[in-house]
Amino acid sequence: MNEIMLSEESFTPEQAFYQDVVEGLSDSPKRLPSKYFYDHRGSELFEQICELEEYYLTRAELSMLDRVARDIAGSLPQISRIVEFGSGNCEKVQYLLDRHRGVRRYLPIDVSESFLLYHADRLMQRYQGLEVEPVVGDFNFPIRLEDTEGGSLGFFPGSTIGNLDRWEAIRFLRNAAESLGPKSYFLVGVDTLKDQDILLAAYDDGQGVTRDFNLNLLRRLEQELGAKIDIDQFEHEARFNEEHSRIEMHLRSRCNQNIRINGDTFSLAKGETIHTENSHKYTVENFQMLACLGGWEPRQVWLADRGMFSIHLLKRMD
Ligand code: SAH
Ligand code: TRP
Repeated sequence: MNEIMLSEESFTPEQAFYQDVVEGLSDSPKRLPSKYFYDHRGSELFEQICELEEYYLTRAELSMLDRVARDIAGSLPQISRIVEFGSGNCEKVQYLLDRHRGVRRYLPIDVSESFLLYHADRLMQRYQGLEVEPVVGDFNFPIRLEDTEGGSLGFFPGSTIGNLDRWEAIRFLRNAAESLGPKSYFLVGVDTLKDQDILLAAYDDGQGVTRDFNLNLLRRLEQELGAKIDIDQFEHEARFNEEHSRIEMHLRSRCNQNIRINGDTFSLAKGETIHTENSHKYTVENFQMLACLGGWEPRQVWLADRGMFSIHLLKRMD
């Protein structure tokens, strides 16, 4: 065990999963928390999404990362620790590690346990001398870090911050400011508002990988909670919600049907949906406003070609 701990949770992960599912399916409209997309299979499906022609986000962000890493290596030479929120396959942080030789410790935080431990281990072998300390858990909870000489850089790529609604994002940013400590910086990848056809295609690809990713949530209900559920009677749906400037992911029931979990029955009418994900899209100004509300001062922003994606450097308001 290392000294880093996510705040005490009173439930085992299995109990929390069950509780969240019952709560979400009892709500109206029905919903399920998106962090449950990511078991090992979900993480692998997400990697496949990142390779899709339609999913421009990963390519656009990767095209900027080396430049960003070089720019901040000049202006923030003292950084000694990087904390990544939702680290996935730990690919993107390598651009930072390659340019910041002073970084001694890397803390990847992710809910997808086996996937996280596998990729943390690979990174450790690749960067000899780097202390890699994976943290399995929900990044929405504050973390306790020991003091570090130099400073901390938070890293939150992939527009994962867009998966939080505005209030959740502000709370997340405040917690991160508290966890990362005085004099810290935060590098956040944020998808930009753009043409709806481009957005919709990115979340409803021709090969159906995003569909399988969305349906993987129902497969987890079946396998891990013993839910009785006819997965074939659900279809994937992506919509654009203009009011909230976000893509929404839903699972639409093809017929009147029930989901049974333990003693509970959840009824769905034909056409009813379960809301599984939001992906908010921000203009530069709107994101900077959000960052300020979260206790971070905007320092610099990089844009991919035609403004397809943005990376923001923020400094903690000390
Ligand atoms: N950073 C990677 C992966 C982004 S996908 C990239 O940019 O490519 C989002 C990642 O966050 C997944 O690995 C998922 O398992 C993780 N994740 C999602 N919700 C989470 C939560 N609430 N707490 C911790 N990790 C979470
Ligand atoms: N952070 C990613 C995004 O908002 C997550 C994501 C990509 C996603 N494709 C998805 C979530 C499909 C649910 C379904 O772009």
